[in-house]
Order: sequence, then structure tokens, then C-alpha cells
Amino acid sequence: MDNRPIGFFDSGLGGLTCISQLMKTLPMERILYFGDTARTPYGSKTPSTIKTFSTQIADFLVQMNVKMIVIACNTVSSTCLDDLQKRYPEIPVVGIIGPAAETVALTCKKGNSVGIIGTKVTIRSKAYEKFIRKLNPELSIHSTPCPTLVPLIEEGIIENEIMDLSIQYYLDHFLSYHKVDTLVLGCTHYPLIRANIEKLYPGLTIVNPSKEIVKSVQRVLTVQNLLAEGSSFDNTFYASDLSENFVNMINRIFERSEFRIAFKSFDLDTYK
Ligand code: DGL
Repeated sequence: MDNRPIGFFDSGLGGLTCISQLMKTLPMERILYFGDTARTPYGSKTPSTIKTFSTQIADFLVQMNVKMIVIACNTVSSTCLDDLQKRYPEIPVVGIIGPAAETVALTCKKGNSVGIIGTKVTIRSKAYEKFIRKLNPELSIHSTPCPTLVPLIEEGIIENEIMDLSIQYYLDHFLSYHKVDTLVLGCTHYPLIRANIEKLYPGLTIVNPSKEIVKSVQRVLTVQNLLAEGSSFDNTFYASDLSENFVNMINRIFERSEFRIAFKSFDLDTYK
């Protein structure tokens, strides 16, 4: 048993979609979240910049004595999961792409057409394809980047015509041309627009990696005897820019919970 917090991080608020899943499955766990809201989005940056930012944040989480690091970001997972695992051999570092890819590989069959959407970096890395093909080489897989969706979500433009039009701009042709029946939300921001996607394209099977990663977290904590015991622990959410949207989104997730929440602004440039 281990009551230290689990460290989560993302470029902004996307990783909060993993937190809401974690709260359902492992409500006794303490959370230490870092959203790099001052530098979001990561998805159009170079891999070397993403590695620098991610290492800075992960170092901070380790310094805060987390028992595990959860990379609640597909872009970071596709870029530097191995580097971060090597850098912190003493604690588990879990990426988001493996668990979701495994679910796709094990649940889809030869006749299915799988679509993957994500940031430019994630799509360019082909990380999902590589993972899925290892387990299920015959699946038909297609992918496309949707670069404007994250900035809109970070702005809180969700239940809105502009969001629907952006989704249609990226997905109308992609889904129909490839006859996609299973869509992987390959960016942790996208579960926040899942309702828009379901409304526009009813009948699609949606795979939510934010849910799949929590199953993996539970497995690792159980196997390594790191689960927390008791209840009602406090949670801390750091942001490099404590924006209104970030605070509002967290308050929405924790709306009816009894958990204590602290918000903290954190300037990574001052952290050495
Ligand atoms: N939410 C992140 C992901 O899963 C990153 C989005 C971004 O910053 O571009 O890829």
C-alpha cells in the first residue's frame, strides 16, 4: 500500500479526461496533476521541444514524490515514453497509447475499419499503428491529424457550431472515404467533444484512451502493491498558467465530489 499521489501530466486540460475516469475506478488515489497551459498546444511542436517540456514536468512530479507518472497525453507518449521510463527507473511511467492500442487490437476484427485522430505529432509518429499491428497485423487502420481542435477546446469552445464545423472539416471525408466504423480519440482533449462527434456521426464505435489508460494504471498499482488505502485524500492541480478554463474544467469534473482540491500556479522556468 502506498498513499503517495499519482502524478499526471498533459499539455493542458486534456489529461483531466483521464482524471475523471480515475475517480470512478480508483477514488481513493491522490492526484497530482500538471497542465502545461502556458505552452499548450504541444501537438504541432517539434519532438525535441516536446521532450524538453515533458522532462521538465516529469522531473517536477518526481521531486514532489509521486509513486507513479501517468503521461496523460498522446503527443508526449508518442514522442518520449521510452526516454521518461529510462530516466525514472525507480517508479512506473505509464503511457496512454499502448493500453488503447491493445484494446483496439483485441476487440476489432479483420472486417473493421479503424480511424485514429490526434495531433500532428501523434499521427506522424504512427505510434498507434505500430502498437496495433504488433497484436493484430490484418486490421485496416487509417489516421488523420485534427490540429485546430485542441486550441478550441482549451478556449472552452465545445457546445458550439464552430466546433461542429471544425469536426466536420476533418472527419466528413475521412470517415466516409475509409468507411471507418471504429474511431480512436487519440488525443486526451477529444473525449471533451465526444458528444459532438456522436451527434454528427451516430453509430460509430468510439475508443476512449483516457478510459483505457486507467485500467492500465490499476493493473500496475495492483501488481506492484502500490494502491492507496483509506479515502478522502486531497488532490492538487498545478498549471503553468492557472487559466479560468482550467479551473472551471476541474470544478466541473469534481462537481459533486467531497474531495479537497488545491489549485497552484507553477512557473517551470524557475524550477531547476
Ligand atoms: N492532449 C494532448 C494529446 O493527447 C496534447 C494536445 C496538444 O497539446 O496539442 O495529444
